[in-house]
Amino acid sequence: MPSTQGPFFFPMAHFVLFVFTASTIFHLQQRLVKIQPPSAARRLEPEETEDSASSAPSAPSSTSAPSSPSTAPRGMWTINSQGRLGNQMGEYATLYALAKMNGRPAFIPPEMHSALAPIFRISLPVLHGATASRIPWRNYPLNDWMEEQYRHLPWEYVRLTGYPCSWTFYHHLRPEILREFTLHDHVREEAQRFLRGLRVNGSRPATFVGVHVRRGDYVHVMPNVWKGVVADRGYLQQALDRFRARHPAPVFVVTSNGMAWCRENIDASRGDVVFAGDGVEGSPAKDFALLTQCNHTVMTIGTFGIWAAYLAGGETVYLANYTLPDSPFLKLFKPEAAFLPEWVGIAADLSPLLKP
Ligand SMILES: *[C@@H]1O[C@H](CO)[C@@H](O)[C@H](O)[C@H]1NC(C)=O
Ligand SMILES: *[C@@H]1O[C@H](CO)[C@@H](O)[C@H](O)[C@H]1NC(C)=O
Ligand SMILES: *[C@@H]1O[C@H](CO)[C@@H](O)[C@H](O)[C@H]1NC(C)=O
Repeated sequence: MPSTQGPFFFPMAHFVLFVFTASTIFHLQQRLVKIQPPSAARRLEPEETEDSASSAPSAPSSTSAPSSPSTAPRGMWTINSQGRLGNQMGEYATLYALAKMNGRPAFIPPEMHSALAPIFRISLPVLHGATASRIPWRNYPLNDWMEEQYRHLPWEYVRLTGYPCSWTFYHHLRPEILREFTLHDHVREEAQRFLRGLRVNGSRPATFVGVHVRRGDYVHVMPNVWKGVVADRGYLQQALDRFRARHPAPVFVVTSNGMAWCRENIDASRGDVVFAGDGVEGSPAKDFALLTQCNHTVMTIGTFGIWAAYLAGGETVYLANYTLPDSPFLKLFKPEAAFLPEWVGIAADLSPLLKP
């Protein structure tokens, strides 16, 4: 998408923050656009989006701007559009929740709409670049957890920045967030068709466990940048065995951006593991839909898995304590703000980090 905005500056101090948050999905796309304040701020009407959903005329009409009905909302809030699917979802949900708390109408950038609208029935309207560039935004960086002061931000035109992905921003609005991230019918139906076709020893399984194994760049970034590890075969064995012990004949639906590693390291000898995802990061809808249509979730690291678990809503097992205690990662990432209290952590094996 051509940008009408100016060049993008990436101060070193912010680099660390961005790298971290991308921890969830580690890539730095240069989308943080710094908008110069216009010389004359004008009041602007937002341009309405081309209708969001590709196929579904689904957006509830009255919900486009989460705001208090009692007072005419003034101003306009937005958020940067950064990272891949999980990050975009975190940014969307955080904007939705914080704008609502502050009684401001929320608008998303076109890039966020492009990432989310093909998959979900999102309802927030789009603010096009030409309009956005005329607004005197107040850029406001967020931590990856809710802070009291975020409830009372006085400015009318706010652009939230960062990679927020924490239930602490939006869990009180869970039904609304689930509605925003409802899959389009054709996306859900494709996943359901796949799940209906699965058999374990000739029988249709009653319990589907989505397994998301984040590999890719993380395999190097975690040890080299963050003094951390990614999920190993021991973790996955423990996580799957936990579900095998608690559910009769579950089937495990594995998605990953490192499927070759998964085939070598996840024991499929019982006939209850399906290597299902295509791992195509550029078109994540299929893998994501498979995970959310499962009953339960095993995640490793990353916001993609966190969101899949949040939407699936069942039992969730996550990789816990996957960095050394002195990792700089922990200054930017609070596990208790990332994982719901009822999710079950299995501690990572950090011994590979301790070898000389
Ligand atoms: C499927 O059947 C094989 C052979 O009887 C058995 O070893 C295996 O444990 C079964 N798998 C499950 C998940 O019940
Ligand atoms: C488990 O997931 C399958 C596939 O989405 C669904 O058909 C089934 O109703 C779910 N079971 C429960 C108990 O929710
Ligand atoms: C992770 O570490 C914290 C702090 O040491 C500890 O309280 C928690 O029980 C650990 N989590 C797991 C799943 O081991």
